[in-house]
Amino acid sequence: MLHYVTTNEGKVAEAASYLGESVGQVDFDYTEIQSDDLGRIAAHGAREAYRHTVASQTRRADGSAADVGDAVLVDDAGLFVDALGGFPGPYSSYAEDTLGVERVWRIAEKEENRKAAFRCVLAYCDGEPFAASPDPVDRDDRVAAAATGAERDAEETEPLPVKLFEGVVRGRLVAPRGEGGFGYDPIFEHDGKTMAEMSTEEKNAISHRGRALAKFGEWFAER
Ligand code: IMP
Repeated sequence: MLHYVTTNEGKVAEAASYLGESVGQVDFDYTEIQSDDLGRIAAHGAREAYRHTVASQTRRADGSAADVGDAVLVDDAGLFVDALGGFPGPYSSYAEDTLGVERVWRIAEKEENRKAAFRCVLAYCDGEPFAASPDPVDRDDRVAAAATGAERDAEETEPLPVKLFEGVVRGRLVAPRGEGGFGYDPIFEHDGKTMAEMSTEEKNAISHRGRALAKFGEWFAER
């Protein structure tokens, strides 16, 4: 079973539409570390979510071994506005909560260049090793583990392997239009339509998340 870990129902709908019934939502609010790198944020979240998922399964299973084959997928995304040096980027969620989407548009509206990109990084963890988890992510996790100062055995201080998949879509910011989607969708236009004017399938076909899911799906099928 693949657990899509998020509190955002919009993300689950898109992932389910892409990956089918093999995906279930885990409503777990993992720690979003402060970083300007979506990959690091997602990788940290995936490790925490995996530990959480395995721990809850162990509790449910009367102390019997957890099913390490179960996998988690964490998704971190952001809106990067060219004229604002990539802001809000990794702080997109904070900007949405504090300013709101409408005000982000009003800030961007003053700029001549309204080009922007949505980026999404998916982080996959199933507790098993595989090739090519980016080294800086692993190094960070090791430093974080060491910083706790706690006595740990060798297995615990080894970071859990995480595999990352990135998707990007470029577009431009416009005055809000459309009723669908979520977050910044109403102000992000691609090929003449805002993402809030697209069906889930249309959005998945061109979106940052859809592109990351496509890469993930291809790799996961092999796995
Ligand atoms: P997070 O990945 O859940 O941290 O999302 C970061 C911010 O980007 C939140 O404000 C989301 O609402 C927004 N966001 C993430 N994905 C999308 C998307 O596909 N469309 C529009 N907004 C998004």
